[in-house]
Amino acid sequence: MNTLILQTEDLTKRYGRRLAVDRISLSIERGDIFGFLGQNGAGKSTLIRVALGLIRPTRGRVLLFGQDMARHSLRALGRVGAIVESPAFYENFSGWENLRILAAMSGGASRKRIEETLVLLDLLPRAHDQVRTYSHGMRQRLGIAQALLPNPEFVILDEPTDGLDPQGIREIRLLLPRLRDELGLTILLCSHLLDEVERVCNAVAIIDHGRLLYQGGIGDLLAGESTVKITVDRLDVAYQILASDPSIAVSRNGSASLYVTMNSECIPRVNALLVANDIRVMELAPQRATLEDVFLTLTQDPVTTTGAAVAERNANVAGGKERG
Ligand SMILES: Nc1ncnc2c1ncn2[C@@H]1O[C@H](COP(=O)(O)OP(=O)(O)O)[C@@H](O)[C@H]1O
Ligand SMILES: [Mg+2]
Repeated sequence: MNTLILQTEDLTKRYGRRLAVDRISLSIERGDIFGFLGQNGAGKSTLIRVALGLIRPTRGRVLLFGQDMARHSLRALGRVGAIVESPAFYENFSGWENLRILAAMSGGASRKRIEETLVLLDLLPRAHDQVRTYSHGMRQRLGIAQALLPNPEFVILDEPTDGLDPQGIREIRLLLPRLRDELGLTILLCSHLLDEVERVCNAVAIIDHGRLLYQGGIGDLLAGESTVKITVDRLDVAYQILASDPSIAVSRNGSASLYVTMNSECIPRVNALLVANDIRVMELAPQRATLEDVFLTLTQDPVTTTGAAVAERNANVAGGKERG
């Protein structure tokens, strides 16, 4: 059985002279919560629109459930649910009525199915209130409910947490693993939020200006180098020592600590080097690499992407942004 849900091959989309998607080849496997990550304007929504057959590619092709979208789009699309932009609803109708009406446009849904879906999205208590009284988070969840009603195998969510408050973001974040585990869904999550993708996705593609910078597991992405915070008694001397070793990327931030970017295997060597020079090492603390570090590394000009830049950013968020 084909476990590839969505493949793009050399997919390219131009709007006039603007290249929005540039030769992107990616594959999403069954059971993935796949993060499609890039800054605003990177080309995420464009790729989604092409994948859903809403616009034609300039070049390349899309395979949905192994079927070429240029030929078999309707059958494959019947197995996909999506919210591409903020969903629009009939404001004066209830959430329940909206689902009934919207489902009717695509073959209908039973009362039971509507109710199940509202329960799943935690909307049942407000199901009979008019949508105009709903919060932004409730609307987003109603949009997801609408996408889930036809019982799809694959759901595409384009920036589902955009504009939500922290509570709304949390609800969506908790929902996605449930959709995969309880409904067996494969999910494509487009996001410009590194933190969100890092928390919920098992695989990720990173794009910038239409180009694919990375595709793979999140673990692999976070595995490489990380920044280690080093606190010592004689900072200036320690800095000189480390900076004079060309294999060590060291930077200082303020006066309290040094930041060294390295593989974790190098920590004992750096420690030994300091101790051998009579420096008292008070703290050697690897800073957990985040997707954001990786994103910066991948998207910045390599010349400016020094350990210092990453370390400085780490130091700037230190304490303010604890990760679970
Ligand atoms: N319909 C369109 N016509 C012309 N340019 C567009 C259109 N839609 C998007 N773009 C441009 O294509 C690029 C990618 O946009 P988009 O796919 O919406 O990015 P993202 O979803 O990652 O924010 C941007 O530069 C955007 O301005
Ligand atoms: Mg977009």
